Amino acid sequence: MNPHTKRGLTSLKSASGAYPCYGVGVKILAIETSCDDTCVAIVETRPPHQTRTSPAFGGAKRRSQSSLWCGGKGQKQPRFDILSNIVSSQVEIHRKWGGVYPTLAKREHQKNLPLVLEKTLKKTKRPKIDLIAITVGPGLDPCLWTGINFAKKLAKDWNLPIIPVNHIEAHILANWLNITTRPGRVIRFPATCLVVSGGHTQLILMKDFGNYKILGETRDDAAGECLDKTARILGLGYPGGPAIANQAKKIRRGPASTDLSRYKIQLPRPMINQKNYDFSFSGLKTAVLYNFKTQPQRIRKSKKYIREICKETQQSIIDVLIKKTIKAAKDYKAESIILGGGVSANKELRKQFQQRIQKEKLNFRFRVPSFKFCTDNAAMTGIAGYYVWLRDETKSWKKIKADANLKIC
Ligand code: KG4
Ligand code: ZN
Repeated sequence: MNPHTKRGLTSLKSASGAYPCYGVGVKILAIETSCDDTCVAIVETRPPHQTRTSPAFGGAKRRSQSSLWCGGKGQKQPRFDILSNIVSSQVEIHRKWGGVYPTLAKREHQKNLPLVLEKTLKKTKRPKIDLIAITVGPGLDPCLWTGINFAKKLAKDWNLPIIPVNHIEAHILANWLNITTRPGRVIRFPATCLVVSGGHTQLILMKDFGNYKILGETRDDAAGECLDKTARILGLGYPGGPAIANQAKKIRRGPASTDLSRYKIQLPRPMINQKNYDFSFSGLKTAVLYNFKTQPQRIRKSKKYIREICKETQQSIIDVLIKKTIKAAKDYKAESIILGGGVSANKELRKQFQQRIQKEKLNFRFRVPSFKFCTDNAAMTGIAGYYVWLRDETKSWKKIKADANLKIC
């Protein structure tokens, strides 16, 4: 028997028939190990426009008809409470390699998963879990399998359904973790989603939850990968994105905002004017390498040079990402632009996106996850798992397997 019905979670068909409706209080334990962070979270569904203190939340009304809501098109969007969200970072271990070393990451996940799970359960006073959500791809194969095997064992021991989650969808849905119901701020569809992380750079048209179309992607390196490799060339360590952003912001600005630039570094903006939505960042990293290698030792070690080349690299990526995303949003008549993935934590990228939308008086709603939900975490996996469950794409635990190159559609 389906454990949800067994445990009394009512299910009905929505008015549109597109989604079933479920009662509030579905608790999802989510696990994410696609790269180098061991993440476990517990999220709980909550009806829209209600707060924990609202009398309609919980208690006697919990399973009544009035507290049911739907997640389909035209319906109110649900909200989620994050009961616990723990990320065990392996950055220190991978730092000396200048990037993620997959077999080392796998070993660390194996070691960390039981500890992080225990911490998560302890923090939430061991609540009764309804579903287990697990990232199945895309990501590093050995890391994905470690999480999957762990989740399968839990699902079997606890007799719970296991839900396979696409990591890219999770990065997009991170925008619903801090969802607001303020008028004018709710994400409207269609949305153009830019997912920029260490492993991916994709432009995706989202017509609804579960309805995605890939418009373009990187043909070689992802934006985050380019930042990580550039940082390695410049000796700034790993992860590269925050290190480069840190150097770039130290540049002093002169009067009327003209940079007091000494080295006049000019890097390419790859594919910026092409009439497609694809990206390419490996040439940018090569241009950095070439510029760096042709400088005398004295300049390579100069703080000013490092800051300037960091600023120019970051700006090149920002220019390309903004131009292509806005073009896609205009071409597909999107109502919203939403970002996700580690690189969307970049303050300059967020600021310049906003400025461009305002300057050009564009009518898009612009949303980014809060900083801690840009990089890998399992709370976003929990939300994505919830929608997979609504779409009835739950699989038998035997059929769940890793797919390092999994596509969102
Ligand atoms: O989403 P994420 O945590 O993992 C993947 O799914 O890949 O993204 C990690 C990437 C790394 O390349 C890292 O350098 C980049 O996100 N990143 C940033 C910032 N914080 C992390 N890039 C630019 N600015 C940041 N503040
Ligand atoms: Zn990620």
